[in-house]
Amino acid sequence: MADLKASLSIDGKVITDLPILKGTAGNDVIDIRTLGSVGYFTYDPGFLATASCESAITYIDGDKGVLQHRGYPIDSLAKQADYLEVCYILLNGEAPTKAQYEDFTNTITNHTMVHEKLVHFFHGFLPNAHPMAMLCGVVGALSSFYHSDLDIHAPDQRMRSAHRLIAKMPTIAAMAYKYSIGQPFVYPRNDLTYAENFLHMLFSVPAEEYVVSPTVARAMDRIFTLHADHEQNASTSTVRLAGSSGANPYACIAAGVASLWGPAHGGANEACLTMLEEIGSLDRVDEFVAKAKDKADPFRLMGFGHRVYKNFDPRATVMRETCHEVLTELGIQDPLLDVAMALEKVALEDPYFIEKKLYPNVDFYSGIILKAIGIPTNMFTVIFAMSRTVGWIAHWDEMLGQAGQKIGRPRQKYTGEIDRKFIPLSER
Ligand code: SDX
Repeated sequence: MADLKASLSIDGKVITDLPILKGTAGNDVIDIRTLGSVGYFTYDPGFLATASCESAITYIDGDKGVLQHRGYPIDSLAKQADYLEVCYILLNGEAPTKAQYEDFTNTITNHTMVHEKLVHFFHGFLPNAHPMAMLCGVVGALSSFYHSDLDIHAPDQRMRSAHRLIAKMPTIAAMAYKYSIGQPFVYPRNDLTYAENFLHMLFSVPAEEYVVSPTVARAMDRIFTLHADHEQNASTSTVRLAGSSGANPYACIAAGVASLWGPAHGGANEACLTMLEEIGSLDRVDEFVAKAKDKADPFRLMGFGHRVYKNFDPRATVMRETCHEVLTELGIQDPLLDVAMALEKVALEDPYFIEKKLYPNVDFYSGIILKAIGIPTNMFTVIFAMSRTVGWIAHWDEMLGQAGQKIGRPRQKYTGEIDRKFIPLSER
């Protein structure tokens, strides 16, 4: 129930009272749904201060560097649960019992294959097509395989769509990689874990046995977990908006993939590694930091800054530990890590970055880990999209399960021409 109200006054005259609603944590919200009826809209391009929905899935406190999924802290989940357990938690709201975990894992395992006809979609792409372009297209095409028998208002059918997507994304992602390097597609195996299976489909070849490294599989699984969900970020909001029209969940996830691709969002991990490679050596770090601070230069330090985290990204903390673990266990000395450490040091000490609260984000270290375990740069965002699919579909499911769900339809501040007389071409 709304206890408090916010009064909107203009020129000293109260226009309307707006209820203030409380969540279980975070900022209270001002319910502005009646504002249109008194002749006003709010104006918030980029949604800097807009709560677009009510959700119980993920909580972020940007000032305190807090990230919790269904109330469980991200560092506990990353270190004590595996990705499929996190998927169960995001979808169902509670940690599973052993029996529920076994059942969920079996369900996902038994949905990992894709229809053989889906293979043909890849052959329409040029060999040098970016794997994210392939992911956008093929995931959207999945809707053609399941659209007919899908009632999105039936909770069990929504959950089956969620299971199918979580299960098939690694298979499709690996197919995009294999297609891009001209190797044959590899079928999933039911005797492997989720992360092992993905690595198997990525790296095994018919000519020899591929043995998955436990270190690499553990790092991969942790990367999946650290990217699983993140409240109402750009791609999740895209999925919600697409889903609000009643669109097929596979098409909605394809929309999320497209939104994530941007370098300001999920494309930052690929852009970050490209940036580190461009910097190349420690003696050029200062040059690029100066570029990042130069208002006349559009260059930004990829992997730094965040719309919400104005202190530190808790995922980056866990990712940093994992990065050092993986490089140490694999005995890899990566000069790019030295460059990354130097950049991190600058960001934590330079007044520009401190004043603007620009800290390493989740994308900063993930690229170095992915490179260390042999993933090519153009697959980084594909892995982010795979990992985030559970978050996207959990939000989609939550939205469709909420009473009174409406199609998303923002308004605008109109600044164009008005009431112009049209002169036909013949008279102009
Ligand atoms: C993700 O929303 C999510 O939750 C996203 C995500 C998720 O899990 O879904 O966490 C994943 O997208 C992480 C962010 C990955 N992006 C990058 O690493 C790209 C580089 N960072 C940025 O472009 C930027 O920091 C954003 C997009 C992440 C945030 O931008 P904001 O909040 O809109 O802030 P801004 O662009 O208004 O920047 C504020 C100031 C500006 O300077 P002033 O205009 O105030 O003078 O900080 C500067 C910016 O110029 N700035 C940077 C910078 N990021 C912001 N300067 C140098 N390098 C940077 N990286």
